[in-house]
Amino acid sequence: DTGLFTYDPGFMSTAACRSAITYIDGDAGVLLYRGYPIEQLAQNSSFLEVAYLLMQGELPTPGEFKNFEHEVTHHTMMRESLRQFLNGFQYDAHPMAMLCAVVGSLAAFYHDSLDIEDPKQRHLAAIRLIAKMPTIAAACYRYSIGWPTRFPRNSLEYCTRFLHMMFEVPSEPLELPPVAAKALDLLFILHADHEQNASTSTVRLVGSTGANPYACVAAGIAALWGPAHGGANEAVLKMLEEIGTADQVGKAIEKAKDKNSGFRLMGFGHRVYKNFDPRATIIREMCHKVLNDLGVHDPMLDVAMKLEEAALKDSYFIERKLYPNVDFYSGIIYKALKIPTEMFTVMFAIARTAGWVAHWLEQNVTPDTKIGRPRQIYTGSGPRDYVPFDKR
Ligand code: SDX
Repeated sequence: DTGLFTYDPGFMSTAACRSAITYIDGDAGVLLYRGYPIEQLAQNSSFLEVAYLLMQGELPTPGEFKNFEHEVTHHTMMRESLRQFLNGFQYDAHPMAMLCAVVGSLAAFYHDSLDIEDPKQRHLAAIRLIAKMPTIAAACYRYSIGWPTRFPRNSLEYCTRFLHMMFEVPSEPLELPPVAAKALDLLFILHADHEQNASTSTVRLVGSTGANPYACVAAGIAALWGPAHGGANEAVLKMLEEIGTADQVGKAIEKAKDKNSGFRLMGFGHRVYKNFDPRATIIREMCHKVLNDLGVHDPMLDVAMKLEEAALKDSYFIERKLYPNVDFYSGIIYKALKIPTEMFTVMFAIARTAGWVAHWLEQNVTPDTKIGRPRQIYTGSGPRDYVPFDKR
């Protein structure tokens, strides 16, 4: 019993850590960031305000938010020698591979002067990561299409600034539909944190050794890339493209039920949510609004809706409590915003950086911080004696 919520002893014995950042009730479909329901934050907040909330534990006053936004805005640049780091990659390398490498290399630029036990420097490292992630992400994308990097414009807010770095070309002004930055900001809020998911647990485990925050977040990016985790949004689009048209949905459902097919419905299922993912509900509604506001009719949305409808009626999925998760509709919105498919998981990483740094800060590497040490169930051989080569 934590005084707020009561957990069964079995849960308490397997819990990886204690954290005050995010609370999930998988059966009730509840998601709270520092006690605030995701639905209310999605409706009223901004990604940067949510980043502040996750890091500091309280909503900022107007003055606190102004200072925070100023700090982030003035740490968005990346050094030219860091940008040149990209030149060493194959031009068509996956952006997640480039992002992971470049973020890890931040330690070569900033770690030497970083005393991670000093709260001010820990805060600065967190600000640098939140500020630079969009700049690095956009630079990876521009490198992969052979375009010159665009520098972050301090006059723009966080998401608009990112979209400019992604799509602006010197030859003509960038026309951004007003809904684009708002939709992106909402997607970033919904992806900002999610308790002890695989990538956040990775960041905490690496952080528990006293490793620098850049190495911790690079490890989180690597974990997020997997198709069972953050890579699912890219995999959902590929799956919908493979299904092709709504009349092929039945075949896909049957294939997903056949264990030997190795095919799973990407964007379905969740380790914790066993009724519905509250983020998926919000994203589903936003998907229709964004496509409507943009005047886009994406046949993939028809396929997605048909797939969802069929799966939710099928006993295989009902028995296994498999419902659409946060990744099921997000890719369709990213596609409508002209974000390329291979950048979808990079978008997830930009947003989840807020959660990763909040957990890293919460872990507060102090002399009595315990190093993470997961245990195992040993299934190997019992004790036995060595057998010399000539006796084998
Ligand atoms: C994210 O942890 C987090 O919070 C993650 C995340 C976050 O914000 O950080 O929410 C983000 O990662 C969302 C999940 C994105 N991944 C996908 O959409 C990939 C497809 N989903 C699955 O791989 C799977 O559902 C997981 C990984 C998400 C959850 O897996 P579980 O809970 O470990 O379930 P399982 O693999 O043990 O499967 C249970 C049963 C199995 O069948 P049986 O052996 O019981 O007969 O359900 C089946 C599975 O075969 N199953 C699926 C399925 N997911 C599970 N069958 C078809 N399609 C699926 N998607």
